[in-house]
Amino acid sequence: MKKKLRIGCLVSGGGTNLQAIIDACADHTIHGKVVFVGSDNSNAFGLTRAKEQRISTVVVDYEAILRQYHQNPKSVRVPPDFSLDAVLARQSILPKDAPVEKIKSFLVPRAVAEAELLEKIKPFPFDLLVLAGFMRILTPYFIDRVNTDPENLRIMNIHPALLPAFPGTDGYGDTFRYGCKVAGCTVHFIDYGEDTGPIIAQRAFSIQEKDTLEKVREKGLRLEWKLYPECIRLFSENRLRVVRNTVLLSNGQSMIKSAVRILPPVDS
Ligand code: GAR
Repeated sequence: MKKKLRIGCLVSGGGTNLQAIIDACADHTIHGKVVFVGSDNSNAFGLTRAKEQRISTVVVDYEAILRQYHQNPKSVRVPPDFSLDAVLARQSILPKDAPVEKIKSFLVPRAVAEAELLEKIKPFPFDLLVLAGFMRILTPYFIDRVNTDPENLRIMNIHPALLPAFPGTDGYGDTFRYGCKVAGCTVHFIDYGEDTGPIIAQRAFSIQEKDTLEKVREKGLRLEWKLYPECIRLFSENRLRVVRNTVLLSNGQSMIKSAVRILPPVDS
């Protein structure tokens, strides 16, 4: 019998996606188990959901770390293995030409919080890290320490919009306010940018004239609860491959774009 996929989960809020993943493990849609739930918010209801299932939980108070850094940057303990140059070279969250001080004050306190998170999740080895409504940007410091094999991406995120449209913190709200007639959700692997990683799967739905923003969120979440477990199942079946495609641009130049190929099921 194949080993169960060990899933680590990070949440910031209600954790309905976490619940869908826990349920999908329980009903064998996913051959896996959630081995820890981490949060940046000690009041996240997702933590309560985890405790109800006797899943270990960890909390890192990002807010306090960020506040402390901005009051006095020298008062926080920067991890000894943190290299600003390495992180600057990789990050694509802030524009490369932004003032270094600005990039630094964004990345350093987050890396401090991430070092604490890495330390706290160390007792819980995992195969896949799933962001289920985790509202913090991950820096290259954290990403590189999880994706130890760059060929094997293993941090997934669900985003409440049809990426690359409407990245950021309020996907359904941004879609609705823009006046879109179609909304949706996207599951993707994490890369060094904000919601820019290779797309695994998407689901769309139409926005009707009478729909409120609440209705749009409700329709979207219902799709998320199905889509996320499906993507985790594909990962557990080793059916996701990140490929690099050379894309020709209209200006004659070319660029490399990573994308995900989904392999057919292996007949058992
Ligand atoms: C979900 O809609 C998820 O797509 C979104 O947060 C919500 C979490 O709900 N994630 C993001 O916006 C990430 N940038 P949940 O806590 O009930 O799963």
